[in-house]
Amino acid sequence: MDAPSPQFDAYRAILAQHQALDALLARIDRALTERTATTAEVGELLLQLGDRLAKHFATEEDGGYFADALTHAPQLVATANQLLAQHPMMCSRAQELVSAVEISPLAEPDWWEETTRRFRAFRDELSRHETRENVLLQEAYGRDIGSHD
Ligand SMILES: [Fe+2]
Ligand SMILES: [Fe+2]
Repeated sequence: MDAPSPQFDAYRAILAQHQALDALLARIDRALTERTATTAEVGELLLQLGDRLAKHFATEEDGGYFADALTHAPQLVATANQLLAQHPMMCSRAQELVSAVEISPLAEPDWWEETTRRFRAFRDELSRHETRENVLLQEAYGRDIGSHD
């Protein structure tokens, strides 16, 4: 009958954002695979991804990057700093992705192939980042926050 702690709420919120980002990444990947959206719609989804990512990083950094988690597990500070340092670079890469799509001189179908290649490279990098964060939070709190039954 324990009430959830504010800290637990905080990382549940982060986890929920990770899941929402995953859903958006899957939606973009589907649009690129099926080619049912227009190129402008794909550009709009990528723009949305960049905005959501900037807000997500701000949430994670709010009050200090995983400050509460790290007071539980100071041995994870170096890993946390490495992950934090990736945020500005990933924001720039998301913006580059949008710009590349907007100014691309390529005609279809080359546009689809090039955009898919760029998107997937970015998605894989972002997924590695988010997975490492889930592991870090899991280790810090000793709870299985990454599992889905
Ligand atoms: Fe992050
Ligand atoms: Fe994250």
